Amino acid sequence: MNSNSLAAQPTYPALRPRRLRMHPTLRRMVRETTLTPADLVAPLFVRHGKGQRIPIGSMPGQFQFTVDQLVIEVRELAQLGVPAVILFGIPAVKDAVGSDNYSPNGIVPQAIRAIKDAAPELIVLSDMCFCEYTDHGHCGIINTPGDAHFHAHLPEGYLLNDPTRDLLGRAAVVHAEAGADIIAPSGMVDGMVGAIRTALDGAGFDHVAIMSYAVKFASGFYGPFRDAAESPPSFGDRSQYQMDPANRREAMKEAALDVAEGADMLMVKPAMPYLDILAAIRETYPLPLGAYHVSGAYAMLHAATANGWLELRRCALESLTSIKRAGADLILTYFARDAARWLSEG
Ligand code: PBG
Repeated sequence: MNSNSLAAQPTYPALRPRRLRMHPTLRRMVRETTLTPADLVAPLFVRHGKGQRIPIGSMPGQFQFTVDQLVIEVRELAQLGVPAVILFGIPAVKDAVGSDNYSPNGIVPQAIRAIKDAAPELIVLSDMCFCEYTDHGHCGIINTPGDAHFHAHLPEGYLLNDPTRDLLGRAAVVHAEAGADIIAPSGMVDGMVGAIRTALDGAGFDHVAIMSYAVKFASGFYGPFRDAAESPPSFGDRSQYQMDPANRREAMKEAALDVAEGADMLMVKPAMPYLDILAAIRETYPLPLGAYHVSGAYAMLHAATANGWLELRRCALESLTSIKRAGADLILTYFARDAARWLSEG
């Protein structure tokens, strides 16, 4: 049947898709995509100190947790059926090379050990990037006159690729030693997956997986995260390493490189205005695929709800379902806890 025949036979008896929408049970029977708590990964922010959960202004319901509080939170997530968390650290001290990220006593290694103790059934992903740890807020080592890494022939302010890549490998080993199950490099540094794989294998962690933020766009939707992680870049933006939102072919190239370098899982970030990219990667690669429903997407729904303009539960579940429908196996979302509760309520 060609498309003209629809117009030619508007009352043809077969053309009645509404028949299958007549009853809630029938609608459930023909539903193509089902979201479950097992699809979700909860991003969590951890900081030094004790007994504190500091609310994040632009992300209602989200907190910076001290490790003792984080442990309470992850136990509840596990009880709700959320299988995994991804950790972001806020170090006590930031410096030019982000050394808290590769210190065995850094905030994230501490948190990983505590979670593995408290909820061994949970999978712990460690976000592997430097922007939370550097005093300039960029995702790696910046070419700065006077610094040990300075290269006079490279532009000032350039994110030095290979020194950053190698330091990511070193930090990955530290997080793996602490018990991370999956390392999730998010810096968009060339060769980061290969360097992390080599470093992990060399240190005896060939059983630790890598989920690459393979396709990460330079997005305005990360704004609230940068409040949460206290990591806005002190100069410029991240466009010299994160991708131009306009580029789809380049997204496929980035994914191909990470597959070749040994990524076990891929991720697209942000998820929401990039579902076309998610679907294209799903079609092309057999690897498990994650998608990050980012801080801005969370903040928007909360802001509209606070104004009485949207219904939070309905719009959040619709958003997450659209991400799964587009091809994600895993969704990293600040709604993990709420969504797991809503889904269990039916
Ligand atoms: C670190 C990182 C960022 C996010 C996750 N990992 C911030 C950034 O790239 O600026 C953003 C997550 C979110 O907005 O929810 N590189």
